[in-house]
Amino acid sequence: MKKNNKIILKKGRNKFLYKHTVLTRIIHAIHLVSMVMLILTGFQIYAPGWFRLFATLEMARYVHFIFMYIIGWTFIYKIYYTIVTGEIKELFFNWRDLRDMPLLVKHYLYDIFVGIPSPSHWGKYNPGQKLVYTLWPILLLAQGITGIAMYFIPKFTAFNNFFGGLANIRAWHFVISWLFVLTTLIHFYLGSTGPKIVDFYKSVVTGYEKQGKH
Ligand code: HEM
Repeated sequence: MKKNNKIILKKGRNKFLYKHTVLTRIIHAIHLVSMVMLILTGFQIYAPGWFRLFATLEMARYVHFIFMYIIGWTFIYKIYYTIVTGEIKELFFNWRDLRDMPLLVKHYLYDIFVGIPSPSHWGKYNPGQKLVYTLWPILLLAQGITGIAMYFIPKFTAFNNFFGGLANIRAWHFVISWLFVLTTLIHFYLGSTGPKIVDFYKSVVTGYEKQGKH
């Protein structure tokens, strides 16, 4: 059944909305694993004496590079995919979302606890989710550039000096890692704010979101 251009599946008394395509879910799983691996290996590379999950520092660096390539290329593909399918409109943070920030605060502090649904004009994702989705490609680009600058030191001497030296570039790479940790935790929390705590998590695995009160 199709309602307002959205595919609705009926199973007994429950209704399910088809929310995430197969490609979205595959890319999401790849990004999730990659981000966790990049953060874990990154900590070992930054402080090998303090954080030792992988057998050697070389191993941690090797795994870090593998997932850097995986997340980099799949991110480029994801951007292309969202542009071609038009989904970018649902994911991108805009001026209206900025104006709605006070509404979002009220939504998370009050509405979700008393069952008030999110405003219909928010669409698929609320302004908080969109802010995180828009921030990530920017952070990833900055992380990629600072990473490359640390790896190809001789070629990037002028670049590194322009930004205050290699130590500064390293510090920025570290700060951005923490921003990823923080925003991923926020994203993780926002995933629990569906009709039931598990509904959004299930939807990003199965594609279908159970319909009910938000
Ligand atoms: C702790 C790990 C993560 C969990 C538990 C998680 C969970 C979720 C959930 C539940 C949704 C669906 C939200 C909804 O239907 O309203 C979602 C969507 C999304 N997540 Fe994650 N996520 C994680 C990590 C990541 C990472 C690392 C990235 C990217 C770097 C990412 C990017 C996205 C994007 C772009 C969407 C929107 C899907 C779309 O329509 O394209 N997530 N996530």
